[in-house]
Amino acid sequence: ILPTVETLTALRARMDGYGADQARTALVPTMGALHEGHLSLVRIAKRVADRVIVSIFVNPTQFAPGEDFEAYPRDMQADLKLLAQEGVDLVYLPSRPSMYQDDHSTSLIIGGVGDGLETDHRPTFFHGVALVVNKLFNRVRPDIAVFGEKDFQQLAVIRRMVRDLDMPVEIIGAPIARDAQGLALSSRNRYFDAEALAVARQLNRILFDARDHLQTGADVATTLQHTHRNILDSGFSDVDYVSLADATSLNLQNEGVVTDKSRLLIAAHCRGVRLIDNCAVNAP
Ligand code: PAJ
Repeated sequence: ILPTVETLTALRARMDGYGADQARTALVPTMGALHEGHLSLVRIAKRVADRVIVSIFVNPTQFAPGEDFEAYPRDMQADLKLLAQEGVDLVYLPSRPSMYQDDHSTSLIIGGVGDGLETDHRPTFFHGVALVVNKLFNRVRPDIAVFGEKDFQQLAVIRRMVRDLDMPVEIIGAPIARDAQGLALSSRNRYFDAEALAVARQLNRILFDARDHLQTGADVATTLQHTHRNILDSGFSDVDYVSLADATSLNLQNEGVVTDKSRLLIAAHCRGVRLIDNCAVNAP
């Protein structure tokens, strides 16, 4: 009973059936391997819109050579079952050749909020994200789109793209969904065995410890250095960044002071899996 469409023609036919009424459509873009984090976005979408479309597309242009595009978890049957339970209206499953023709040659670079942090370690990641989200918006033409704060810089990049390019869509940010012990849910968590999971679980504890120190007035640069060290001592093999940034501009505050708009962001590697997490920090 859950309708799925694969072609743009079928998508348009379905959406024409929605009629030219005042009904608002929300899009939740995903790469599948759905978990409660994705479903929390769907629930927000259902609250703010009359119709909810979820897209599932493992977007090749946001994976660099050597990243896990081929191995990225895919579980379509389980995904569709979860989405049916949530009562979404339509699932859009574009094919790779329909999204990217062989001679696709257009790129999209979102500077400012897209610079630094993730981009220092995945230089073309946001080019691919901006491109595919732009294409999904053009195809689905949603009134609203929901993105998670789990990927905090990605959310900032999408907001900036929409503002700078006058795209007629309202962006809603959703809080990070965590498991009972605080681990931020991620499709890549299913790569972990028990031992790696035990290491991964340290990350949110370290993140919130650092936040607590900053909120009680600890020096920013010193706290970030200690946090970096803590992550390595907890069994992570590498730390890409531990940074404090302004939540809107993403300008770094690593040598500065905490404001009421600060965000603490971490990316670290655990047994070959890259984990990211972040949280708000208030001025002491
Ligand atoms: P994906 O990793 O599948 O995530 C889809 C959406 O779910 C993103 O907006 C992401 O921030 C959100 N999300 C993932 N885990 C979450 C969690 N624990 N809590 C809250 N939200 C969470 O992000 C992408 O796909 C892709 O880059 C995409 C935007 C679909 C473009 O290809």
